[in-house]
Amino acid sequence: MGREGKLPETGSPYREGRTMLLLPENAANSLLGPRRKRPGEVFYNSAMSGSRTRSVLLLKHSIEYGLLGSGKIYAIDGLTASGLRARRWLNEIPEEMAARVLAEIVDLDEMSLEWAKASNNQFPPSHGKGAIEAIHGDLRSSVLRSGRHWVDIDPYGSPVPFLDSAMQSMARSGVMEVSATDTAALTGSSKTALMRRYGARVRNDSLSHDSGMRVLLAVISRIAARHDRSLHPLLSIWDSHHLRVSFLVKKGISAANNLETRIGWRVFSPDMEEVAASMAYGFHLGESLETLPMHCFLPLEFPVNRKDPRISGPMWIGPTGDCDAMASMTDDFALESCGPTFSLDDPLGWDEKRCALERRAISRSVRHISEESQAIKSNQLIVVDDLSSWLGTGAPPSPKRIVESLKDVGHSAGVSSYGRPSFRTDAPWEDVIDAAKSIQPPI
Ligand SMILES: C[S@@+](CC[C@H](N)C(=O)[O-])C[C@H]1O[C@@H](n2cnc3c(N)ncnc32)[C@H](O)[C@@H]1O
Repeated sequence: MGREGKLPETGSPYREGRTMLLLPENAANSLLGPRRKRPGEVFYNSAMSGSRTRSVLLLKHSIEYGLLGSGKIYAIDGLTASGLRARRWLNEIPEEMAARVLAEIVDLDEMSLEWAKASNNQFPPSHGKGAIEAIHGDLRSSVLRSGRHWVDIDPYGSPVPFLDSAMQSMARSGVMEVSATDTAALTGSSKTALMRRYGARVRNDSLSHDSGMRVLLAVISRIAARHDRSLHPLLSIWDSHHLRVSFLVKKGISAANNLETRIGWRVFSPDMEEVAASMAYGFHLGESLETLPMHCFLPLEFPVNRKDPRISGPMWIGPTGDCDAMASMTDDFALESCGPTFSLDDPLGWDEKRCALERRAISRSVRHISEESQAIKSNQLIVVDDLSSWLGTGAPPSPKRIVESLKDVGHSAGVSSYGRPSFRTDAPWEDVIDAAKSIQPPI
């Protein structure tokens, strides 16, 4: 191989989900966190295990719902590193589904692919179905070798350099999953990088990670439209240091032409005119202009002053997830698909306690997603700390209690999987306020 670093024969076995892999000695302990690898290492970040678990579940759901057609599934794990993501797809989906999948794993780093191949040789899918092919090269050209039903882009930093060629490679209907670790840019902390890479502004507040995911979706949807395609978001997640958006891509000119109806602005502390417009366009769910909301959405055609610090965008202003895809991500579904089960002859010698720990990690990776699916069609994501400061009501209400209260009066609502205590609901703004006030503990 002509590269520095330990050869795969000297690796130690490790497990994530239900899938075993080989890593250089102690790598699992030393390669945590969002840093780049050094030459000769293989990148493995256990902080991304939740992202890989959700990827397995979404693939399973997409096959079940026919989103990837009925024939062979050409999948690509575009920036594969240890190869674990694609190996988990094959090992953790059922045999009859895996039999349809040809997964290419691509990396510029030859040593990483050697580790991926060694892991696959030693620990092939337990049901023996599905094929993996390692491709040494640049994803930007490798992805164009065939039409793709499933494309995963999980880079260091921004995914922007990989999006155009990946979009061109998509089959008539397929799913793309895109991670971004340049959260400082996407959330508006690094304003210049945000404008340069994504052509947007984001107010750096408690919704800035949601805004960041929406900016990313808007950029990707523009690229899709250039190639006569449109997006339907399936799942958008902020998980510690990264943002990840997963969406169905469909070929078709008329949906691509409608792009601009899905792109617009988020306005913090909107004035009466802005709220009235947002209501007229069907974005703001209020019934009157008596109590103005914390935020509202406006379409791209609405004239805004882009330098106004209250304005974030351009961003995706449609739903950021799909009800069915998110509803499928229950604790039971995750554990049944990806949870390791204890056995006395466990190859790693894991006892029941260690197995339970990994099962808890699997459960954590889908926390609140299925519940949030009930209200995902609504763009109203409310951070409870913001709500109590806005209303001047003291301690923030518990998201769980406010959701119960909204459901009691017939609205859809769910605690959100967003990284701050929050909920999502289709209730009119006035009802949100009533619910928040009614459950406020007496001062
Ligand atoms: C963040 S890591 C990927 C992590 C992996 N997806 C996982 O789930 O563990 C990024 C990987 O992309 C590879 N890489 C960077 N630029 C590339 C390019 N242009 N084409 C292919 N691979 C590339 C790096 O060598 C590295 O292994």
